[in-house]
Amino acid sequence: MSIAIYPGTFDPITRGHLDVIRRALKIFDKLIVLVAHHEDKSPWFEVSERVEMIKDATADLQGVEVDSYSGLLVEYAKRKKATAVIRGLRAVSDFEYEFQMAQMNRELCPSVETLFLIPAESYTYLSSSLLKEIYTLGGDVSQFVPESVEKRLKKKLKPRR
Ligand code: COA
Repeated sequence: MSIAIYPGTFDPITRGHLDVIRRALKIFDKLIVLVAHHEDKSPWFEVSERVEMIKDATADLQGVEVDSYSGLLVEYAKRKKATAVIRGLRAVSDFEYEFQMAQMNRELCPSVETLFLIPAESYTYLSSSLLKEIYTLGGDVSQFVPESVEKRLKKKLKPRR
């Protein structure tokens, strides 16, 4: 069975992330979507909430497992016998950071490959921070996040306008 890991902060998961998940499932039998704790990003949602939102959003997809982890990604990958780490590449601006992470992960664990997938064009400008800003300022985010995430956002915080 081919296993890959899709790590991220997912604060919250967006339609762009879901697009990457669907693409990865065409290549791998199992995809573990891994929520990183990443406290220095001051996430809006608790890890458990982020995990729940991903579970809701991927309920109709076969082969998805959702988990969270606060240690080294490559250690988790080895433990799960995963052969690849999936990352989405939205624009050239993502490249430098992603390249550095991929190289470092390869240095730490040469048996795990990093695979970059390009999300649909309509999501190339999307990020979790931007959508939170749009939501806070009263904008419509329904086109960027699944319905269950929009509901959670509304429960979490009232827009300022
Ligand atoms: N659609 C929409 N948005 C996307 C996206 C897509 N397809 N792909 C990335 N993004 C956005 C995210 O929403 C996020 O936006 P934000 O910064 O506004 O929140 C941003 O791009 C990048 O975030 P993400 O993909 O979640 O990655 P990250 O940089 O937050 O997380 C980890 C990086 C978790 C993968 C990395 O820190 C890690 O591996 N940590 C584990 C510890 C470890 O092993 N460290 C050593 C690494 S070498």
